[in-house]
Amino acid sequence: MDIFDALAARHMTRAFTGAPPSADGLDALLYALTRGPSAGNTASVETLVLEGDDVDQYWQITLPEERRSGFRWPGLLLAPVLLIPTVAPDDYLKRYSESDKAHSGLGEAALAWPVPYWWVDGGAAVENVLLTAAALELGVCFFGQFEHETSVSAHFGIPTARRSLGTIAVGEPDRESDRKSWSSQRPTRSASDRTHWGRW
Ligand SMILES: Cc1cc2nc3c(=O)[nH]c(=O)nc-3n(C[C@H](O)[C@H](O)[C@H](O)COP(=O)(O)O)c2cc1C
Repeated sequence: MDIFDALAARHMTRAFTGAPPSADGLDALLYALTRGPSAGNTASVETLVLEGDDVDQYWQITLPEERRSGFRWPGLLLAPVLLIPTVAPDDYLKRYSESDKAHSGLGEAALAWPVPYWWVDGGAAVENVLLTAAALELGVCFFGQFEHETSVSAHFGIPTARRSLGTIAVGEPDRESDRKSWSSQRPTRSASDRTHWGRW
């Protein structure tokens, strides 16, 4: 599959069969997470991989059994692997305090960043995973941790200086029982509708 096919195929899968990805497939996704660009080559993205009992523990924290009966995507809970990509804003402050970057003033405080590049780099890493999964015909779904970030991080030992971008469920897609989210049923907007040439 070339890049254009992968771009067209990329979508969020919310139902999984439970079959694990091949070791090579999972390795490819982990490699993709490291192939994004990063500001100042800070290379801050690091990822926690959860499998087996750890996946159960993740869901126990974020969606305890007593709250599962009305959950719209029970097949999401069958994803055999969860990836939690993280970034450390402090890595950027340290990097931008080095001699070639210090003139920017960005090493002084996170609030000095007009665009906090840790989120930009994190987004690029996540998109690399989503595209690689599309190319490999693996199912993936990126979703937020919202109010559970602190308890998930504490449970799995993610350092407090690291921020989780969200969670990426990975596995074989169960196309029969997948249900689209309300968001993904919104009309897509064409490239021409979203592009402004020369002037807005
Ligand atoms: C930053 C971000 C956060 C998202 N959070 C969630 C989420 O919490 N739950 C969910 O089901 N999907 C989530 N999504 C998936 C979007 O709903 C989905 O990408 C969008 O509807 C377009 O559908 P598609 O990706 O299948 O093309 C998120 C996507 C992004 C980029």
